[in-house]
Amino acid sequence: MKIGNFELPFGIALAPMAGFSDYAMRRISFEYGAEYSVTEMVSAKATVYGDKKTLALAKITKAESPTALQIFGSEPSVMAEAAAILSSPVGDGVAPVAIDINMGCPVHKIYSNGEGSALMKKPKLIYDITRAVVSAISLPTTVKIRLGVDSEHINAVECALAIEEAGAAAITVHGRTKAQLYSGKADMKEVEKVKKSVHIPLFANGDILTAEDGIRVLSETGADGIMIGRGAVGNPFIFSEIIAALKGEVFAEPTLEERKSAALTQLDYAINNKGETVAVREARGQLAKYFHSFRGCAELRAKINRSTTRAEIEAAISELK
Ligand SMILES: Cc1cc2nc3c(=O)[nH]c(=O)nc-3n(C[C@H](O)[C@H](O)[C@H](O)COP(=O)(O)O)c2cc1C
Repeated sequence: MKIGNFELPFGIALAPMAGFSDYAMRRISFEYGAEYSVTEMVSAKATVYGDKKTLALAKITKAESPTALQIFGSEPSVMAEAAAILSSPVGDGVAPVAIDINMGCPVHKIYSNGEGSALMKKPKLIYDITRAVVSAISLPTTVKIRLGVDSEHINAVECALAIEEAGAAAITVHGRTKAQLYSGKADMKEVEKVKKSVHIPLFANGDILTAEDGIRVLSETGADGIMIGRGAVGNPFIFSEIIAALKGEVFAEPTLEERKSAALTQLDYAINNKGETVAVREARGQLAKYFHSFRGCAELRAKINRSTTRAEIEAAISELK
């Protein structure tokens, strides 16, 4: 599949995840085979106000390209202005390869503001926002949606058609409704319906936790690509495993030593980016996941949660046998 000028031979991407898909996770994902990634969502309004924290979140480096930058909001003019600002590199970073619009976030604060998945109640507004962003930037515009607000209002096809008509270059569909949050199972039959209705490239998303899931979703939905979120946390190897399977190659499971090395590399990227104190605190949610299938993981998690330095984390990890 193609996003603008970027050819993604297998369409295997890291999904946007606030609090997770930061510089460190994106970079390690690329190193293990991801072909594309999307930043954590950033507020269009805060971007337009020039908020420094927002701009820091929006920075993309060469080591994580091609990466799309995701914005959220509900006013077409503000979304267009933010997209235009964020089309240029932040600081000494590189420009995103696309601007992605969040139309799927179910978080109460976002939804109750009429943003994220609340937009799916208003396909006309979806069209207006997408059109405004498409018109404001020369980069491709992409959009990420869910199936609808709830099971009584599944309208992903209608929303996807509005998005396509407005000129978007690609779409991602998470196979759940807003009401489901992250419960139940992603419904790939509904994602397939969207794929059959639009002509722009589509990423299928939801519950791809193993390489087999990835291959199954690609074949069940006919999607051009897949986005993987939670399945890549502590498991960037999933990208190379899926690509190996698609190429018909044998995949060698990462050894414990390889897992230790990847976990510490991700931590070092985070430290370089955010400093040791913040990186170590944020690593608590991610690093133990590298070792979830090993005996002693619960103990390791507890130790990581108590750690305040890289040295303590490294010592805890090195004890794992
Ligand atoms: C902690 C967390 C944060 C997320 N943040 C975002 C976000 O910023 N933007 C977005 O479009 N989706 C976000 N999502 C949704 C994911 O991109 C994805 O659609 C969802 O997790 C289903 O895919 P998965 O089963 O592969 O994780 C988030 C999900 C999680 C679990």
